[in-house]
Amino acid sequence: MVGRLAAHALRARRRRLRDYSGIVIRARGVEKRYGDKRVLRGVGFDVSRDGFLLVTGSNGSGKTTLLRLCAGLAIPTAGELDVAPERGRIGYLAHEPLVYRELTAVENLDLYGRLYRVAERRERIGMLLERFGLWDARHERADSYSRGMLQRLALCRALLHDPELLVLDEPYSGLDEEGAVLLDRELDERRASCAFVVATHDPARIDLLATSKLALS
Ligand SMILES: Nc1ncnc2c1ncn2[C@@H]1O[C@H](COP(=O)(O)OP(=O)(O)O)[C@@H](O)[C@H]1O
Ligand SMILES: [Mg+2]
Repeated sequence: MVGRLAAHALRARRRRLRDYSGIVIRARGVEKRYGDKRVLRGVGFDVSRDGFLLVTGSNGSGKTTLLRLCAGLAIPTAGELDVAPERGRIGYLAHEPLVYRELTAVENLDLYGRLYRVAERRERIGMLLERFGLWDARHERADSYSRGMLQRLALCRALLHDPELLVLDEPYSGLDEEGAVLLDRELDERRASCAFVVATHDPARIDLLATSKLALS
């Protein structure tokens, strides 16, 4: 058993892609198990520097699991997953907003801005809060925010450091139509300058942006 596990660990890896010649993510035969449960099997794809991979599938098909692998929050149990950008150049939007509830929107973004050493932090924070319609609520604590406002704030956080790779898990979740239109605009404007991996169970809205698709089952 120990031998099998060791061999397993050797086969599976997630590493920085060295010579990426335009490829930001390369996945080959990626598998992810939790105990006896195999969530992903034989997943393979490439994402180019200006690519937009749309990941679809029903609830429980492994979309979130795959995005967590791409963002470096978990490692595959078999196969190869090479991701070029370092962790600090990836923007990750999770199911949960990943913001501190007891801090205001500005305080939250300021904290992340310091962590990621964002240049012209205050200007960028102001610009994003304005773009996502949160400027007037910028000094309110996140725990007073509605679900849709939290999703807008989480998007600001994911975009703050101008990432090379954006990994977005159900980005439209919780947004009202106005918020969804703001996100449409943001994705459309960024798609030439950044790579995307976006998971959704409702692909119709962003189908046109996708340069490749992966349907999980
Ligand atoms: N940490 C975990 N431990 C055990 N099972 C997990 C874990 N994370 C996800 N799973 C299981 O993996 C499957 C896929 O989940 P998920 O990736 O969240 O799917 P999706 O995002 O497509 O709804 C589910 O059956 C879920 O229960
Ligand atoms: Mg999910």
